Amino acid sequence: MNKPYAVVGVVAALVVGGGIVGWFLGAHMRPTTGIPPRTVADYLHAVIEADRTFYTQHVVERMEAMLIVTASERWREEQALPLPAQFLQEASRNLGLEQRPFRYRLISLWPINPKNAPESERERHDLEQVVKYGEVVENTTHIDGRLYFRAIYPDRAVSRACISCHNAHERSPKRDFKLNDIMGGLEILIPLS
Ligand code: HEC
Repeated sequence: MNKPYAVVGVVAALVVGGGIVGWFLGAHMRPTTGIPPRTVADYLHAVIEADRTFYTQHVVERMEAMLIVTASERWREEQALPLPAQFLQEASRNLGLEQRPFRYRLISLWPINPKNAPESERERHDLEQVVKYGEVVENTTHIDGRLYFRAIYPDRAVSRACISCHNAHERSPKRDFKLNDIMGGLEILIPLS
């Protein structure tokens, strides 16, 4: 098979697979069934992280090592692969476009993309706690008149690629990330009403 098509196939399979798991959790594990929202968030976190790690290690890194295709911020224009952060965000966007049973996104106090900054003072405060103590911070919040459970999980620099790319990126406001630093947070929102 033509390699670029194979790449597109793998990416599509991961996005669709993540969406199906997300739909299942969203449809069957609403807090009303008695499962605590934190448990639902932990399940989601495990699935999202497993997909992201697999994508980074077995798609992006392998494709780059085999010189087939690289990951790029401008992946649509350059016919490249989305970066791991973009993979996560695109999958989140595809998920539940109509009903939005839950949401997730990567956020940071030092974002390359300003859209990934905290959107409120409270969110900023919670993210600061995550960075300071390295623990999950959970809370409830209103968005567009709807009550959500919110958990922010620490997002660590687990590989050299994380720090070398962010430290060198022209739009990065922070250039001294070290291995295992908390670079930001994965925020998961689950509707309670
Ligand atoms: C090849 C470059 C590259 C690599 C490798 C990379 N990132 Fe990023 N990362 C980016 C770019 C570019 C964005 C902004 C994407 C967007 O437009 O939303 C980003 C976004 C993020 C964000 C959201 C905040 C922000 O900066 O906009 C976090 C958190 C993050 N990355 C953490 C990581 C972690 C942890 C790793 C390693 C597991 C990693 N990144 C690997 C380039 C990279």
